Amino acid sequence: MCNENEIELNRQKEYIEKCRTYTAAFQVEHGRAPRACVVTFGCQMNARDSEKLTGILKEAGYELTGAEEEADFVLYNTCTVRDNANQRVYGRLGHLNSLKKKKPYLKIALCGCMMQEQAVVEKIRKSYRFVDLIFGTHNLFRFAEFLSDSLASEDMVVDIWDETDKIVENLPVERKYRYKSGVNIMFGCNNFCSYCIVPYVRGRERSREPEEILGEIERLVEDGVVEVMLLGQNVNSYGKNLEHPITFAQLLRRVDQIEGLRRIRFMTSHPKDLSDELIQVMQHSPKICRHLHLPLQAGSDRILEAMNRRYTKEQYLALVEKLKHAIPDISITTDIIVGFPGETSADVDETIDVVRRVQFDNAFTFIYSPRTGTPAAAMDNQVPEEIVHENFDRLLSVVQETAKQRAALLEGKVMEALVEEVNEQDPAFVTGRLSNNMLVHFKADRRLVGKFVMVKLDHCHGFYYTGRMVDWLSQTKHTRLGKMVDNQWLN
Ligand code: 5AD
Ligand code: SF4
Repeated sequence: MCNENEIELNRQKEYIEKCRTYTAAFQVEHGRAPRACVVTFGCQMNARDSEKLTGILKEAGYELTGAEEEADFVLYNTCTVRDNANQRVYGRLGHLNSLKKKKPYLKIALCGCMMQEQAVVEKIRKSYRFVDLIFGTHNLFRFAEFLSDSLASEDMVVDIWDETDKIVENLPVERKYRYKSGVNIMFGCNNFCSYCIVPYVRGRERSREPEEILGEIERLVEDGVVEVMLLGQNVNSYGKNLEHPITFAQLLRRVDQIEGLRRIRFMTSHPKDLSDELIQVMQHSPKICRHLHLPLQAGSDRILEAMNRRYTKEQYLALVEKLKHAIPDISITTDIIVGFPGETSADVDETIDVVRRVQFDNAFTFIYSPRTGTPAAAMDNQVPEEIVHENFDRLLSVVQETAKQRAALLEGKVMEALVEEVNEQDPAFVTGRLSNNMLVHFKADRRLVGKFVMVKLDHCHGFYYTGRMVDWLSQTKHTRLGKMVDNQWLN
């Protein structure tokens, strides 16, 4: 870790101390610690950022709550990839305003991608004046400083950076799950797909040093983590701009060697950058999960070109063919946008053709949302809403049909699942995740959360299974778990 990082980290620690004086005074006045609620919108990157923000709040002396009504500090970590994400934030801010009227000392803070848009910040300054603190994606590591400034001020504190080349390592983190964790390997995106706002709000691609990533994963494993999800907007271009360049496949090889780590996931992969080297590493590593999220976005060459995706329908299909040949049990999921400017029903037929031929295990389908500042938003051939909806429904029914067919193929099979949580509806059941990312619900002791078990997938219900744990002997045989550890859990 370089000196500059340590200086910044120490600065932030001093601000955490300052915040602690505030939280201690709050405790004296109210007879309890102040409570903070962090609400996350959007993707896995945001979820990981929220764990860092929560870590800082906890160190600063806040107790955490999931209920905004109970909180003395509310932080929205926002998303702006589609307009409905923005609208949800504005809607919820209205509710926060009414809470603040009842509790004037309530502090309201906003951060994340939406705050990197100038128009949004102006709107909040003008029409949502009860907000206390706004910061962006590039200076999130300074949260302790902003929090301390805001606690000492009656005015709205606003600090947004246009860009950064900094990556601050080793901030405090409060993980949501003890047995699995996201790990950022890179930030930003250089691809500029013509519909996408991410490169504007998350900045240029910056990769973390491999040693930092491996060190973080090793510490996580020591702390009980068995599964990591390597995160980046385009993981396949990881490492290209480092002083000592390294490929994503090479990084994966090194992560694979970490003892005690059982499962490795990653997202998101851009089809144009997915290398043969990566396919080989996946093929030979039992730790890398049999799942690849490979956004298609559209199946028509004309639309793909207008989207600036830099691959054709045939190239995408050939890549999938190669993947399935090398890793026959791989599950492939995707993202698709419907209603990109100029898209006709014939273009959507091409997309549907790809869905049928690839047989995606799942596809997230989105209606195109114009984002101010992106090239697509300025295109004059925006598609009328009724046509978009008609095409969207057509696509969705094929997506659902093929996903169901794929899921049905595993019915009756015995597979390894990582138990993730106790079922909300019935506490006698738990939910496990298979290597292919599908979920299975089955009866089991809650103490198995965080453990690997073998489960028979009795029934397929489209997007999930119900099943049962198979007998103890085959379980120990298959899961390679220390017997003592498991005996302790099961007795
Ligand atoms: N409109 C609709 N969907 C979008 N996505 C990104 N930008 C837009 C937009 N402007 C989708 C893409 C991407 C996923 C995260 O969000 O499918 O893969
Ligand atoms: Fe957006 Fe394209 Fe970058 Fe993904 S690869 S974040 S869709 S610009």
